[in-house]
Amino acid sequence: MNYKNLIKNRKSTRDYKPDAVDDRKLQALISYFHQAPKLVPGIKMEIFLLQNGNEVFELLDGKAGYNGRMIKAPEYIIITSEDKNGYMENTGFVGEQVVLKAADEGIDTCWITYESSSLIKDALELDTDKEVTGIIAVGYGIDKKKVLHTIDIGDNYSKADIQIIEDNASFRYSVEDIVFLTEWGKPADYSMLEQRGIAEAFTYLRLAPSTLNHQPWKFIIDGSVMVLTIKDNKDTNIKEERMDAGIVMLYFYLLLSETIYTPHWYLGKTKKDYKIPENYRIVSWCVL
Ligand SMILES: Cc1cc2nc3c(=O)[nH]c(=O)nc-3n(C[C@H](O)[C@H](O)[C@H](O)COP(=O)(O)O)c2cc1C
Repeated sequence: MNYKNLIKNRKSTRDYKPDAVDDRKLQALISYFHQAPKLVPGIKMEIFLLQNGNEVFELLDGKAGYNGRMIKAPEYIIITSEDKNGYMENTGFVGEQVVLKAADEGIDTCWITYESSSLIKDALELDTDKEVTGIIAVGYGIDKKKVLHTIDIGDNYSKADIQIIEDNASFRYSVEDIVFLTEWGKPADYSMLEQRGIAEAFTYLRLAPSTLNHQPWKFIIDGSVMVLTIKDNKDTNIKEERMDAGIVMLYFYLLLSETIYTPHWYLGKTKKDYKIPENYRIVSWCVL
């Protein structure tokens, strides 16, 4: 898959045609899930494909979606997982691979948030001992017009790196806003990122989906170590933030794997104290 193109053109779709997605394509998503690399390999997960979209919508309306506003789609994917250290990050990491595979198959998707796993499990009568960790709407969007981002990675790269040429694209922070050098708040110089071969990865990973489009991630590059911090936003919960972290870790992993090497993310804090603000926390780090 050409991840850069998929990432560039993917967007969350909230209005779907009633038409069902071809069974063969749906099965391709399921197979993809089963062979997808995990962030935490030991965690057992399951995937459920629900093809009775109207019924699922009725059952989950009020229980899932922003403010309980469920998204109506012909199919849904439900991901369940063992509750182990890193399981929400792992769900984001694996689930987003299914989202990108769907994009590759021309299928539109949207992650759907929820308050309570047990409410969802009961409503859907899911036969599992695991926790519901992800809900994804699947179908063909009514507006098939793609959001095109023009990415200019020339000499004069700046905050204007992404030019939105359709008007339904979501806002994104610039690389300078999210990547710090050595210490909190000191923006990394783009030419330095270029020299290290990671500038393009950051340009694209900013397009990762996140709950309420908070883009809660900030990175600190300190020599050969890169630390991922996540903002503790008032209107998102820790599970959503951990899921967002897993998704952005996947993007970095995929984008770097395509170019220099396959990074390994270590969950947890670093020994060094980076004096990050109280409303941020260190989620993980990797060696560059
Ligand atoms: C974990 C997660 C949960 C989300 N939940 C919802 C949701 O319940 N309803 C919704 O409309 N969008 C939801 N989204 C989609 C985000 O709002 C979307 O990714 C963000 O606004 C950026 O837009 P884009 O994905 O089109 O680039 C969710 C995204 C993530 C990653």
